[in-house]
Amino acid sequence: MKIRKNFLPFSRPSIGKSEINRVTTCLKSGWITTGALCKEFEDNFTRLTGSQNAVSVNSATAGMHIILSALNIAPDDEIITPSMTFASTVNMIALRGAKPVFVDVDYGTLNINTDLIEEKITKKTKAIIPVHFAGAPADMDKINSLAKKYKLTVIEDAAHAVGTYYKGIHTGGFGHPAIFSFHPIKNITTGEGGMITLNDAGLEKKLRLLRFHGIERDAWKRYGKGGNPSYDIAGPGYKYNMPDVLAALGLAQMERWQEFNRKRSELAGIYLEKLGGVSGIDLPQFPQYDHVHAWHLFVIKVCALDRDEFMNRLSDYNIGYGLHFPPTHTLNYVKARYEENVGLLPETERAAPKMISLPLFPDMLEKDVQYVCKAIKEIIRNG
Ligand SMILES: Cc1ncc(COP(=O)(O)O)c(C=O)c1O
Repeated sequence: MKIRKNFLPFSRPSIGKSEINRVTTCLKSGWITTGALCKEFEDNFTRLTGSQNAVSVNSATAGMHIILSALNIAPDDEIITPSMTFASTVNMIALRGAKPVFVDVDYGTLNINTDLIEEKITKKTKAIIPVHFAGAPADMDKINSLAKKYKLTVIEDAAHAVGTYYKGIHTGGFGHPAIFSFHPIKNITTGEGGMITLNDAGLEKKLRLLRFHGIERDAWKRYGKGGNPSYDIAGPGYKYNMPDVLAALGLAQMERWQEFNRKRSELAGIYLEKLGGVSGIDLPQFPQYDHVHAWHLFVIKVCALDRDEFMNRLSDYNIGYGLHFPPTHTLNYVKARYEENVGLLPETERAAPKMISLPLFPDMLEKDVQYVCKAIKEIIRNG
């Protein structure tokens, strides 16, 4: 087949006129850091998820960090999470001095295998962090009932899950804290950014303090007309606030998330159709329960040839790709610190060396997907 001339990236944010107009208006307004637009963005998220509170932050990682801090997660505590996720979760657990306890995933969906959670719960367990992998929801009923039984907190990692519904409920809408990511490859972006949703005004207050130096009042209120610029700090905090100029971008993206996800879903449908039955490739499988998939990623498992070789061959065809994720329990420091996990996550270890994320983004064309599928078939045929 004819090789395309221009490179097809693995992902690319969709930035249009409305994004540029919103950001420009903010830039001209005289207030570009945390303020009214962040509040509006937060209100958008409570509406989307059905949560009572939302706190904007400058990354999902920052969100996870202040949630774990606000919950007083401390050395000796254990946190249950899949190893098949981005390293940020494990980093935040490790930075609190706590221990990640990894649970295997289902090979087909790459979501946490909820049948294996209970056996990992001990007296030290404080929380479960499920990940809605690639935009397909984890089995929240099972996770929530285990959390209730053992009095654990659930923190949903909804980094992939703007537009993901589980049995009619949007992720982040179950009452416990959840984090969303707006990194440029995510379903909506603010360049970098994140959102916490929850139903707990007391915890929300703590999160707002931890987000901004521990300072009691928002800067935009302190510096307004008649505001009092003095402040006091009852406890130390981080500098994790989202600026309004990024919230402006997020607000424009929020108006388009349904359009984006519709497109992602259509493109994923073409992948599934064209690659269905191609031997040597395992396609993503779906949870059995009622759900809406956000199609953040399209992850295949390459069985027919070595993954590095496969990636080299995709490059020859001018096609980009991603790796989501190298399992966290195999990362150098994680392996050294929590070595008992190696070899105990058979499905994660079976899937990981074969996994590769194919290009998927809203402005990708149908003919781009057709091209990738043709290239993959040719690569497999030629061995
Ligand atoms: C599953 C998962 N969790 C958390 C994060 C962290 O998000 P952020 O980059 O906004 O900190 C990511 C980002 O890639 C992710 O994929």
